[in-house]
Amino acid sequence: MSDAGALHSDAASRGIAEDLARASDALENMQASGELAPVVTVAPASPNVPPALFGAGGPMLKRFDESTVASRKGSNAPSPPPSVKGIGKKVAKPDYSEQKIVVAMVGLPARGKSYLSNKLMIYLRWLEYDVKVFNVGQLRRTKARQKAQKLGVKENHTAEFFSHSNAQATQSRDKLAEESLEMLIQWLKEGGNVGIHDATNSTKDRRAKIEARLAKEKGMTLIFLESFCDDPATIAANVELKVSQGDPDYKDMSPDEARKDFLRRISEYEKVYETITEPHLSYLRIKNVGEEVTMSRINGYLSSRIAFYLMNLHIRPRNIFFSRHGESQYNVEGKIGGDSLLSSRGMQYAKALPALITDNIGEKPLTVWTSTLKRTIQTAQYLPYTKLTWKSLDELDAGVCDGMTYEEIEQAYPDDYANRDEDKFNYRYRGGESYRDVVVRLEPVIMELERQENILIIGHQAILRCLYAYFHHLPQTDLPYIKIPLHTVIKLTPKAYGCDEERYTLPINAVDTHRPKPKTAKQPLTHSTTQRQYFVEEEIKPLA
Ligand code: F6P
Repeated sequence: MSDAGALHSDAASRGIAEDLARASDALENMQASGELAPVVTVAPASPNVPPALFGAGGPMLKRFDESTVASRKGSNAPSPPPSVKGIGKKVAKPDYSEQKIVVAMVGLPARGKSYLSNKLMIYLRWLEYDVKVFNVGQLRRTKARQKAQKLGVKENHTAEFFSHSNAQATQSRDKLAEESLEMLIQWLKEGGNVGIHDATNSTKDRRAKIEARLAKEKGMTLIFLESFCDDPATIAANVELKVSQGDPDYKDMSPDEARKDFLRRISEYEKVYETITEPHLSYLRIKNVGEEVTMSRINGYLSSRIAFYLMNLHIRPRNIFFSRHGESQYNVEGKIGGDSLLSSRGMQYAKALPALITDNIGEKPLTVWTSTLKRTIQTAQYLPYTKLTWKSLDELDAGVCDGMTYEEIEQAYPDDYANRDEDKFNYRYRGGESYRDVVVRLEPVIMELERQENILIIGHQAILRCLYAYFHHLPQTDLPYIKIPLHTVIKLTPKAYGCDEERYTLPINAVDTHRPKPKTAKQPLTHSTTQRQYFVEEEIKPLA
């Protein structure tokens, strides 16, 4: 190093050392004055861990909760600490551009492949990955429809078309699967993160072809996901769903004929089906959704996360209930955040809630989850069920605005107020959170909700919006405006393709805390339906 360089570097290190000393003094002063919470070191989990390591109340989640404790210091402090000066920011989505995963489904018809594809897509989209399902059946139907429209030729897609001994049909099915894979690869190249190839891919030969094709692409990970099912009741239910939900393959047949044809189609596939065992492939084999999972060669963050999610799914019938806490004293005063108690009307709601829930759930078991805030714990107090508190369920942290009314925020922080109205999902309160931050902290809650059966969550407006958006697959722009009124129980019943919903409003008045979307912005859509789609929504792009 030259002398000049050495001098420069000495001066620089002196400067850094002085800065560090100043910062350390400032930190000590802040800690001494109580402005800054002392650093908490989280102890490792005890060796006597309960079986559900990541479950509600389990050590992993407890550590997650503790590590995400947000300071809920009163916003009425005269001047905010330096870290929260400036205006609340719109925080951009994380950069996932390097993530390129192909999930190739495997399995016989009526084994729940589309169910798993759909669930995985919704979960990853909720976490902001760009995900798309490429369903070969949809492509086949769309192409056949186009052919019929253009050439007037109607293709025969009865069981005969799916027979391995029909060479021409086998060739055309292979071509469709290849074309769909090409569309998927192209889409990943254009910026997608996870492409799901929803086809049977039920022979070693077909899987080898997919593997060979993906080997030609750099930076793409291939995972096979087999949905194996030998439970006659599930298979029968899937067959019924296929023949009764308006599948275009069966639109000209009676339900009886349709059922017979579909069962024949399944037996054609069974003749050549090979379950996945290839030791060199990355795969997950899920038996009877949730009964047994085999994992082979799954590496990397996103792949492991996908595997973890799929391991937690089940299809046992159940209900998920959402309720906000009863009306709180802060609600009455129009203030946000805080940790106030219930108003007298809120207490009436807490007392009326058990009858509503028990009428609905009967003798079935139920667990109640609350946040750690007083208003949710108070609301749950009369419910005769096991209760768990989650820090992750605490209301969106409004930072310096905590404890203020919307009018006070508009006056004190006009830029923040306008920023939030412009892009509510991305706006992060000074020293607080954005809706995106909340989605991230709710991810373990979603994981656990998938694993559990009947659950009642007594939560908060923003929190329940995020969870509701996951179950109804609602877009980010609509999420912060979803109506979750006070004194109302929302009952969700998960179905194969979405959730049924019922709402029960108790006749106990409460204030309305919903601020509608500003007029200039697009109004939210109603929630998605549970109908399965049978055609590719957008025009099929010709491949180069
Ligand atoms: O007003 C009740 C409340 O739960 C507040 O504590 C919270 O800040 C707010 O709702 C979240 O709703 P929004 O995002 O619409 O301000």
